[in-house]
Amino acid sequence: MTDTAFWDKIAPRYAKSKISNPDAYEETLTRTMQHLNASDHVLELGCGTGSTALRLAGTVKAYTASDISPAMIDIARAKPGAEALDLRVAGTDRTSYHDLKPDTVLAFNLLHLLPDLDGALHDIHAMLPPGGLFISKTAAIGEKWYFRPLLAAMQFIGKAPFARLMKVPEIDAKIEEAGFELIETGLYPPSTPSRFVVARRI
Ligand SMILES: C[S@@+](CC[C@H](N)C(=O)[O-])C[C@H]1O[C@@H](n2cnc3c(N)ncnc32)[C@H](O)[C@@H]1O
Repeated sequence: MTDTAFWDKIAPRYAKSKISNPDAYEETLTRTMQHLNASDHVLELGCGTGSTALRLAGTVKAYTASDISPAMIDIARAKPGAEALDLRVAGTDRTSYHDLKPDTVLAFNLLHLLPDLDGALHDIHAMLPPGGLFISKTAAIGEKWYFRPLLAAMQFIGKAPFARLMKVPEIDAKIEEAGFELIETGLYPPSTPSRFVVARRI
């Protein structure tokens, strides 16, 4: 099964699932909003069913939200307020956004799912102007020893997509190596852990 087929299949269930840690989610939304300006054009990659996009879009001038899964985008399009979003079925390839000049790119719970993470970070860097922001939150599943056998077993039975087992320092290093300076980092929540990074394009 391709990753797109995997996410299409689970989209209806994903749409109904509860946020696993609402306090951590709200905290990262608040932290993200601190870095957005009313004049910004924001591009959110891997937006899923658009819940975060709908929370943030009102704080900026324009908001493009994309996802590789058509089923996720269909669910997002049906939500109240979706008409305020520019929703697209697309991956992380910069050619999909040739018509945009985003000030900020967002990627929540996405980077560990990308088979070509370095290529994606390179494209995000290329899409942004110098000083533009890349804000991400990434599951550092490499921090927990049991994720390796768990992931392998779930992938074997088709219940998990591709996922990269990264630890926190590796996530930070990948973003820095792509040409960003980290201006804020955090773990929300520390126990999972999920790495929140605000990075400025050099
Ligand atoms: C764990 S969900 C996160 C969704 C949303 N960002 C959130 O935080 O709730 C991962 C999302 O990434 C999308 N995705 C997976 N691979 C992708 C890729 N290569 N490019 C863009 N989106 C992708 C999936 O379709 C899915 O909607």
